[in-house]
Amino acid sequence: MTADPLRVALAGLGTVGGGVVRLLDANRELIERRAGRAIEIVAVSARDRSKDRGVDIARFAWVDDTARLAGHPDIDVVVELIGGSDGPALALARATLEAGKSLITANKALLAHHGLELAEAAEAAGVALKFEAAVAGGVPVIKGLRDGAAANRIDRVYGILNGTCNFILTKMEAEGRDFADVLAEAQALGFAEADPSFDIDGVDAAHKLSILASLSFGTRPAFADVQSSGIRQILAADIAEAAALGYRVRLVGVAEAGPNGLFQRVHPHLVAADDPLAHVSGALNAVVAEGNFVGRLLFQGAGAGDGPTASAVVADLIDIARGEFGPPYAMPAASLSALAPADSGERRGRAYLRFMVADKVGVLAEIAAAMRDAGVSIESLMQRGANGDGSVLVAIVTHEGPERAVAHALDKLRGSSSLAGDPLWMHIL
Ligand code: NDP
Ligand code: HSE
Repeated sequence: MTADPLRVALAGLGTVGGGVVRLLDANRELIERRAGRAIEIVAVSARDRSKDRGVDIARFAWVDDTARLAGHPDIDVVVELIGGSDGPALALARATLEAGKSLITANKALLAHHGLELAEAAEAAGVALKFEAAVAGGVPVIKGLRDGAAANRIDRVYGILNGTCNFILTKMEAEGRDFADVLAEAQALGFAEADPSFDIDGVDAAHKLSILASLSFGTRPAFADVQSSGIRQILAADIAEAAALGYRVRLVGVAEAGPNGLFQRVHPHLVAADDPLAHVSGALNAVVAEGNFVGRLLFQGAGAGDGPTASAVVADLIDIARGEFGPPYAMPAASLSALAPADSGERRGRAYLRFMVADKVGVLAEIAAAMRDAGVSIESLMQRGANGDGSVLVAIVTHEGPERAVAHALDKLRGSSSLAGDPLWMHIL
C-alpha cells in the first residue's frame, strides 16, 4: 500500500471502544485491502489510564483531556465512543468538526439532541460525520437508507431498536421470568446504556427513531416530538395473555411522514406471531422501511454488543479512508424540512388494555361503562383469578377505532378506587 494511512483518535475505550481496537487488530490486512490504505489508531483517551481493558493500548498515545484529541496534529478522524448527549462527547464532537477533522460516533443521544448542528458543522468544514453504529448496532441500516434506498420516497419506518429491551422481553417470554431479574443479565452482557433507564424507558429507542425518521423522510431530527414509553410495567402475565391471543410483546418504534405531519412513537406493542418482528429475539434489532419503488425492506441483526457495534464503527472508518463522505442525513442539512408533529389521537388501531383491579362487585361494569362512554368497542375481555395481593388481571382487546377514544376511556378510569395501579395500553401493530 502506498497511500497514507488514515490516522484515528479513539475517545472511549469501553465496550465499543475495546471492540474497535480488537476488530482493527484482527482484520487489519483485509480492512487495509478494502479501504485502499491502512487504518491506524494513533491516540486514545478515556477516564482511567490504568484500567485493564483486555487490549494493548500502550502502543497508542494517551491523551488525558479527551477534547484535546481534536487538536492532535497527527490525526484525520476522531471516533467518539464516550456516550451522553452533552458533556465531553458534545465538546469533543464540536471541537473535532471545528478543527476540520471527520467525526464518527455511535452516540445516538448526541445525534438526537445535536445531530442537525453537527451535520451543519461537518458540511461547512467539508468533512464527514458518520454514525452507522448509532442505530441498530451492527446492522447497516444507516447506509441502507442513506445510500441503498436513496432513490425512494419513504413514508414509514419502524422496528425493534433496543437490544436490551428485546433481550428482556424475549427472556421473559421464553422463561417466564420477572423483568428486574432479566435486566441484570442484559447489563452484565454489555448491551445496556450507562444509565439503563434510557433503555427500559424507551429513550434510547426514541433517540434512534428520530435519526431513522430524519434519514428516511428528509426531515430535521425531532427527538423532542417522539412519544415514548418503555417496558417496566410489562408483566409476565401480559406476555402470556398476548401469547394466548396469538401475539408477542415487542418494544417497537414507528415513524411516519405524511399530510398530517411527522408521527414518531416508541411503545411496547403486540406483534402478530407471524410478523417478522415477532421472530426478532434476544439483543437482535430489526428495521422495516417502506420505499415507494423498492417496496418493503427489512434490516435485521445484532443491535448491541462490542463486536457488532465495532463492525459498524469500522465500516464508517473504511468509508472515510475511501473518501466516501456525503451528507450525514442523505441530503444537505439545509434541505431537511421541518414537519410539525402529527396528532396521534387521529390514528386508528386496535389496542390491548390491561387493568389490575380489586376483586369486588361492579369493577368490570365500571371498566365497560368507561369504554362505552368513550366509544371504544371491545373485541374480547379476559379476567384471571386473584393474585397473592387480591388483585385481578383484566385484559381487553379493542376493535379498531380512534386512539383518542381509548385515551378518553383510560382518563375516565384513572384514579378509580377499583384499579390497583395504572392501566397498561399496548398498541397492536
Ligand atoms: P462504556 O460505558 O462501556 O464506555 C464508555 C467509555 O467512555 C469508557 O472507556 C470511559 O472511560 C469513557 N468515558 C466516560 N466518561 C468519560 C469522560 N468524562 N471523559 C473521557 N472518557 C470518558 O460505553 P459503550 O462502549 O457501551 O458505549 C459507547 C457509545 O456507544 C455510547 O454512545 C453508546 O450509546 C454507544 N453504543 C453502545 C452499544 C453497546 O452495545 N454497548 C451499541 C451501540 C451504540 P473509562 O473506561 O476509563 O471509564
Ligand atoms: N443500549 C443499546 C441497546 C445499545 O440495548 O440497544 C445499542 O444501541
